[in-house]
Amino acid sequence: MARIFNFSAGPSVLPEDVLKQAAAEIMDYKGSGMSVMEMSHRSKVYDDIIKNTEALFRSVLSVPSNYKVLFLQGGATQQFAMIPMNLLTKNGRADYVVSGSFSGKAYEEAELIGAASGKKISLAATTKPENFARIPEQKELILDPQADYVHICFNNTIFGTTWKYIPDTGNVPLVADMSSCILSEPVDVSRFALIYAGAQKNIAPAGLTIVIIRDDLLRDPLPGTPVMLNYAIQAKSDSMYNTPPCWPIYISMLVLEWIQGLGGLSAMQKRNQEKAAVLYDYLDSTDFYKTAVLPRDRSMMNVTFNTGNAELDAAFAKESAAAGMANLKGHKLVGGMRASIYNAMPKAGVEKLVAFMRDFAERNK
Ligand SMILES: Cc1ncc(COP(=O)(O)O)c(C=O)c1O
Repeated sequence: MARIFNFSAGPSVLPEDVLKQAAAEIMDYKGSGMSVMEMSHRSKVYDDIIKNTEALFRSVLSVPSNYKVLFLQGGATQQFAMIPMNLLTKNGRADYVVSGSFSGKAYEEAELIGAASGKKISLAATTKPENFARIPEQKELILDPQADYVHICFNNTIFGTTWKYIPDTGNVPLVADMSSCILSEPVDVSRFALIYAGAQKNIAPAGLTIVIIRDDLLRDPLPGTPVMLNYAIQAKSDSMYNTPPCWPIYISMLVLEWIQGLGGLSAMQKRNQEKAAVLYDYLDSTDFYKTAVLPRDRSMMNVTFNTGNAELDAAFAKESAAAGMANLKGHKLVGGMRASIYNAMPKAGVEKLVAFMRDFAERNK
């Protein structure tokens, strides 16, 4: 077996214990004589899986009882459309904070839907002129008290920034994309009206999107909204309106059991803080590598850095891959390097990366 340290931003590393368990159960899941990939989603054995997954998710994340948990498909990107289609239905206005690439895409999608339905989408704040090196402060947010919702992206996967505070939006529902930070630390779900996340970073393989939605937001969507994009219908049918993403839901159950076994989200947070500190402490101690991100807003999940020299950055990506560390090349919008150190990345992976960084710096200074 030759596993390497995989720093991919998503799909990403999964816990080895989970992979082993899935492998052990692949021919015969609990005496059913088949794998979870092959069974009917309406069978008793699968019903137990999806119900158990939801119960675990609610317990691990302390989801209050007045929220539904939905297991959907279409990726986080489909939520960029579902949110305006379902929520722009009271006053027909929404505010978007653009703090990175994905929140920009969410904003553009809402504008598209708003334009088609005569609704108004406003930019509450953006840090684009600073190439998204920081998160806007509360005082910079221009918020409409009559908006149907405010949308933010809690962790900016590409730029490596994260919200260290939950913005105060008054009575306006707060909607957050938590694709790249969900389950990395405890979250006060009650401060949000809707949280969504593509599974392929901290939860499961790609193909599943989890939505946590407060009951009062389950209302009639804009006219013409397809059934599959209607939260109320998905909630009413317990995510079983059609065939759900059975396999990623099963893997999320195993991942949630793994998190629970390690002590839940407080333990996860401690592990993640320790891992991120190994990398940031080193970055702060050297002039060889630079980081664009404002220290206050540093992400615990995605760490971006560069040498200031594109050729050296390219050599870093190549040599680190040869040394057993995959996917360290940064996103093209930022350049340089990015280490995604999600829940399943062991501390040993980050320590190996820092040892390599020291050696690389020594050889190229
Ligand atoms: C924060 C964030 N939002 C949205 C997306 C898009 O997710 P998907 O590919 O599941 O549509 C990503 C993907 O990396 C992401 O990191």
